Amino acid sequence: MIQAKKYTLDHEQLLKNNNQKKVYIETYGCQMNVADSEVVMSILAEEGFSLTETMEEGDLLLINTCSIRDNAEQRVRGRLGEFRRVKQQKKSVMIGVIGCMAERLKEQLVEQEKLVDLVVGPDAYRSLPQLIAQADTGQKAINVLLSREETYAEISPVRYASNGISAFVSIMRGCDNMCSYCIVPFTRGRERSRDPQTILNEVQELIDNGFKEVTLLGQNVDKYKWEKEGEEAVGFAKLLEMVAELNQQMRVRFSTSYPQDMTDEVLKTMASHHNICKHIHFPAQSGNTRILELMRRGYTREWYMSRVEAIRKHMPECAITTDIISGFCSESEAEHQDTLSLMEWAEFDLAFMFKYSERPNTYAHRKLKDDVPEDVKSRRLTEIIDLQNKVSENVKQKDIGQTFEVLVEGVSKKSEEQLHGRTSQNKTVVFPRKDAKIGDYVLVKVNSATQATLIGEIVE
Ligand code: SAH
Ligand code: SF4
Ligand code: F3S
Repeated sequence: MIQAKKYTLDHEQLLKNNNQKKVYIETYGCQMNVADSEVVMSILAEEGFSLTETMEEGDLLLINTCSIRDNAEQRVRGRLGEFRRVKQQKKSVMIGVIGCMAERLKEQLVEQEKLVDLVVGPDAYRSLPQLIAQADTGQKAINVLLSREETYAEISPVRYASNGISAFVSIMRGCDNMCSYCIVPFTRGRERSRDPQTILNEVQELIDNGFKEVTLLGQNVDKYKWEKEGEEAVGFAKLLEMVAELNQQMRVRFSTSYPQDMTDEVLKTMASHHNICKHIHFPAQSGNTRILELMRRGYTREWYMSRVEAIRKHMPECAITTDIISGFCSESEAEHQDTLSLMEWAEFDLAFMFKYSERPNTYAHRKLKDDVPEDVKSRRLTEIIDLQNKVSENVKQKDIGQTFEVLVEGVSKKSEEQLHGRTSQNKTVVFPRKDAKIGDYVLVKVNSATQATLIGEIVE
């Protein structure tokens, strides 16, 4: 028997209550947005809203949006078209755009996107109840104020989209890095850290509810810092240790590490705690120092390589994944080759690879020319993807024959008899279920691999 998931209580209650107004919510973009939607759901549940998974049933349709690349925004606009169709059938329906696109476009959104009633930025979710009341009177309701303090510290997120095993916990918000291509500092505002006690409380609540894995989120987790008069400052390594020591059965992950700021102290903390997962998402963006400088990343190719070496030294078994941008302003063919050679050298386990997309008002938009032709960007991206596929393939071969501790997360879509879970290195493994249950830790020996998954069997 598969264990009942404890989270369903909350979830089912939210779905069941028929007398209440219903909210339907779609989430795009990064893990931060997933975490934010859970905060939003918590604020709305307090107001008596229940959740629906069917758009047509919603009284309030929310879309939590992303502005990172133009195609992310186009996708949201497409979905808004669907929302509008529902509203045309049922006039009382309210449409709200929240998240990064709301922040970037502000009032413009209600002009550009017909029938949008609410526009709410990432730091303004506490005002949702008032804004909904305002929109109820037929006025457009907009709040896109950014804050230097807001961390939604004491709000307990409703884990409505979770599998009951893994959860995200935001430890900080905003970003002060100002990478020249990036919209995030504009949509998310200044960097600020959350009170560590509230983080520990939230993780403890997850542990009490049977969760087995938590991912600590921030745009640059290495800059986490909590300072209070009379108390010792808490940095990221310390926070990581405190979270890991709450419960040995609780896996701890985090994202994202910034090459310039990642310390040996963090690596040592990882190495000395079995339940801190051996995986670092470590975005390189480019393998060429001149391009990195134009990107304002603050590190060189050599620095990046030295940090990868440090990771390997402290934790030879650690997986490293990355993000790469192809065709940034003025990138030459030789500079693109530097990215390829870095990828080959680093042997990334996985990479997220993108074509450069110019974002309005960023430094790159104002001061640099987006002058790599579209077809060249595409061709370079294809080369990057092809190379990474080869690298991933090689890396995976090394996993075959090895035994990993796997946290069981669910039943395989393809067969009831198969379970799936992830290794500490964040790799998905599929294996025959034997007596294992969701939420268990099992030792799995890997026998083979497909493109995306490892295939194995439970060993004693
Ligand atoms: N804070 C994280 C990344 C946040 S955005 C970091 O610094 O690593 C996720 C990824 O989107 C980035 O790592 C980058 O590779 C990509 N990205 C950001 N802005 C982009 C743009 N304008 N065009 C293409 N890709 C972009
Ligand atoms: Fe954007 Fe750079 Fe901040 Fe990441 S660190 S969110 S890429 S500005
Ligand atoms: Fe997108 Fe905003 Fe995240 S722009 S990547 S949703 S911080």
